[in-house]
Amino acid sequence: MRNFKAIALSAAFAAVASASDVEVLTKDTFPDFVKGNDLVLAEFYAPWCGHCKALAPEYEEAATTLKEKNIKLAKVDCTEEADLCQSYGVEGYPTLKVFRGPDNVNAYSGARKAPAIVSYMTKQSLPAVSLLTKDTIEDFKIQDKVVLVGYFAADDKTSNTTYTEVAEKLRDSYLFGASNDAELAKAEGVEFPSLVLYKSFDEGKSIFTETFSGEAIEKFAKTASIPLIGEVGPDTYAGYMATGIPLAYIFAETAEERDSFSAELKDVAEKHRGAISFATIDAKAFGAHAGNLNLKADVFPAFAIQDTVNNKKFPYDQEAKITAETIGKFVDDFVAGKVEPSVKSEPIPETQEGPVQIIVAKNYDDIVLDNTKDVLVEFYAPWCGHCKALAPKYDILAGLYVDAGLDSKVTIAKVDATLNDVPDEIQGFPTIKLFKAGDKTNPITYSGSRSIEDLIKFVKENGKYAAEVSYEEPSEDEAQKPIVESMAEQAQAATEAAKDAAEEATESVKSAASEATEAADAEIHDEL
Ligand SMILES: *[C@@H]1O[C@H](CO)[C@@H](O)[C@H](O)[C@H]1NC(C)=O
Repeated sequence: MRNFKAIALSAAFAAVASASDVEVLTKDTFPDFVKGNDLVLAEFYAPWCGHCKALAPEYEEAATTLKEKNIKLAKVDCTEEADLCQSYGVEGYPTLKVFRGPDNVNAYSGARKAPAIVSYMTKQSLPAVSLLTKDTIEDFKIQDKVVLVGYFAADDKTSNTTYTEVAEKLRDSYLFGASNDAELAKAEGVEFPSLVLYKSFDEGKSIFTETFSGEAIEKFAKTASIPLIGEVGPDTYAGYMATGIPLAYIFAETAEERDSFSAELKDVAEKHRGAISFATIDAKAFGAHAGNLNLKADVFPAFAIQDTVNNKKFPYDQEAKITAETIGKFVDDFVAGKVEPSVKSEPIPETQEGPVQIIVAKNYDDIVLDNTKDVLVEFYAPWCGHCKALAPKYDILAGLYVDAGLDSKVTIAKVDATLNDVPDEIQGFPTIKLFKAGDKTNPITYSGSRSIEDLIKFVKENGKYAAEVSYEEPSEDEAQKPIVESMAEQAQAATEAAKDAAEEATESVKSAASEATEAADAEIHDEL
């Protein structure tokens, strides 16, 4: 009897495992599917893509969980359905999009893990604000790790509008509910209009105590939702950066160490709650990030504070002990403005040799913020291939403005952003921005092709002076050379190519090792 049961059970499991809840769509089935289902998450993928393969089991699991909420997950193989993918602007794999019917399409901006997908799509399925009653409020409070409930009178249109606007804006991050039942507010110890954030960690809830304004509510949601001492990782990093308050990192290599530091520093974190976020970070997995905070990336444990708004770094002495007392004092000093930020900079070049101005952290303000000039800045990394490919073109570009006598109006400059702290948020290399004369606070990020012509156009269209230089692609005048000369050139080129090949063989062994480190670095940066 027992055996029979076991067999029946495992057969049932097998059946569950093989049936997929992810709908496979083609150009013929896609339109009807998104029309016929209120809410669909669609993955556009390619079978060879590694991130897609990693996502697959998570996506399956999420589809199964979300089935009962009538939220559909679908996928499209873009190697089979190129036109369909192109029509939705798919440029990389996997691309995930949320469909509310065929015309209301939004990028999915959650993490690529089953629980994150489930939580994100659940939020999408609800109205931005759920109206709560005494029968539904208790369930609602535990629907997610963090939920917000606004309490205001039924006729208080102003508070209602304010709250709803914040909810629409932040609906991807939190669940929002509201109630106009005065009894419920009273039970929470709040008066109309007010707001309570419920959380599954720390003290369980936080009460909003400021004036009911959109800005204050948004800031409250972002800070009160973060655990007293949380953990920095790929899923939480963006959240910490969005708080608008400094982040204190506790780097430690083992989970036990991280727990014990959390306990040690709990009171310090509590004292600065709402003003500074505290979080541990796994120094084994993300130790390289210590380098971004101007800490040595191989000495742990370590502690540093990052001003997330101005991207200033305050590393704590890595030789000193991390205790409630020492860190308590360091943080107090930081708050009092007594700790100098650490600024990583190459030395200021003695002379600017080429047409491209070399920026380092120490001359950044002098060059970039020079209000009399339109300044085009390339943020690069020495290991970045696209940057290397751009370099000769960028030199030519800078030379054009010099030759045209326009260098008093336009500066073409670059900065090695791995060796110099810059105030800008750099998402990838190269990043190119134009700092317009007279308006240095809103640089414009370049998103065009990396061609000289397009860069010239960008400077003209966005700079204060609309300065323009002309450039012509070198024409094929090789063809006009006497045949003998060009044959001699070819022979020369062939010898050089052979020499290069020999050198490259040795070179590549050396560089393979360094490239591997760099790739790993880049990936961590990418992850975080
Ligand atoms: C907010 O306004 C909407 C639209 O008028 C209404 O349906 C909802 O009940 C209001 N919320 C509360 C908590 O009264």
